[in-house]
Amino acid sequence: MVGFSFTATAATCDGTDLATLARAEGTPLYVYSRTLIERRYRALDTALTGHPHRVHYALKANSTRGLLEVLRAAGAGVDANSGGEIAVALCAGFEPDDIVFTGVGKSGAELEAAVAADLHAINAESAGELERVDRIARARGERARVAVRINPDIDAASHPGISTGSRAHKFGVPIGDARRVCREAAARRGLHLVGVHAHIGSQMTTLDPVRRAASTVAAFAGELRDDGIALEHLDLGGGLGISYDGAPALDVGEYARTLLAAVAPTGLRLLVEPGRWIVGPTAVLLTTVVDVKPQGGDRHFVVVDAGMSELLRPALYDAYHRIAPVAPRSGPQATCDVVGPLCETTDVVGLDRRMVLPEVGDVLAVLDAGAYGSAMASNYNRHPLPAEVLVGGGGWRLVRRRQTVDDLLACEPAAGDGGAVPAARLA
Ligand code: LLP
Repeated sequence: MVGFSFTATAATCDGTDLATLARAEGTPLYVYSRTLIERRYRALDTALTGHPHRVHYALKANSTRGLLEVLRAAGAGVDANSGGEIAVALCAGFEPDDIVFTGVGKSGAELEAAVAADLHAINAESAGELERVDRIARARGERARVAVRINPDIDAASHPGISTGSRAHKFGVPIGDARRVCREAAARRGLHLVGVHAHIGSQMTTLDPVRRAASTVAAFAGELRDDGIALEHLDLGGGLGISYDGAPALDVGEYARTLLAAVAPTGLRLLVEPGRWIVGPTAVLLTTVVDVKPQGGDRHFVVVDAGMSELLRPALYDAYHRIAPVAPRSGPQATCDVVGPLCETTDVVGLDRRMVLPEVGDVLAVLDAGAYGSAMASNYNRHPLPAEVLVGGGGWRLVRRRQTVDDLLACEPAAGDGGAVPAARLA
């Protein structure tokens, strides 16, 4: 059985018992299915066949090296959002030409490194950034490959916190200025304008915004062609949503057809930057019940050892993730508020869940935790980052060992450890 299965007697990932994994590696623990990652990447790549394209997996969704190695072997490129993500991608074996570099606030050092590396494209967010890239490239006697990110002023119809394509959002060049900015970019000696980029939001569950963004970008490319600017590609970002509640989600084939209907007539290569769709459903977060507290009636707090420091999405976006017991109990159902151990009221995993009341020591699985789970984990309340295992090939591999408090303190010399800078040196 590929992927995750929860029955009355066993919970497994690609046939490997989740309870065994929790015992072997402890909790909180992220568990990934290698086969699911490969299958989902291939499903999207296959849906786009028939037109020149490349899937640049969005590293921000999850850049644990062990996962990137799987995606690289499958043929993916990547979308990086920082110098750190570029460095991890290179470590995982990606070539500079596999990488596009997005990001609303790229630092001078990041731009220097990106130009030096000769990435597939720097997705520039503003006229100012184009000017900075031009200056860096000319100083090196080079031409940097750039795409201009446009802000098409389209509502992604998603959660406001993860919508990026409206005028009020900080991202990209406003569509009204974009033609002038692109003409200026094309005239700069240090720049090679190779593409136009747009990403209007994440967790999109309707096709209309996708269709509108794709046709806006395609029409804009037509205007640039009229200006004598020959692009190589259109990059339509990521954003394809997944189902968090088990209801049917957008079909990947329909998504691909929607993009291609707009892009194919331009004859330009299509790049996409999916993150969540590829890795979201490929992981669970295993967590152990540490306390059960009655709230009156059949309502209880079920306190678990993972919270907003391991999975921030419920606290930050009110996000819903299904929760399943790894070893189901029998008995009457109760209403459970599954909450984390941190000193924050918003530190919840899932409220108002009907389930057989778990007991201390039971292991629960939080589903669809592969995207923006471990990637957004923090050390809040001095929680060490959780361990992560990749299941595949009939076994599993630790792809991130659990952090220790010593790891955290290694960055923090004690007063007696030296390293003090005399104030006079700053004067
Ligand atoms: N490309 C760009 C330029 C992006 O900003 C993003 C996501 C993606 C691609 C990938 O989008 P996806 O295919 O994963 O939807 N932390 C939030 C999601 C933030 C998304 C930010 N940008 C969450 O947990 O829902």
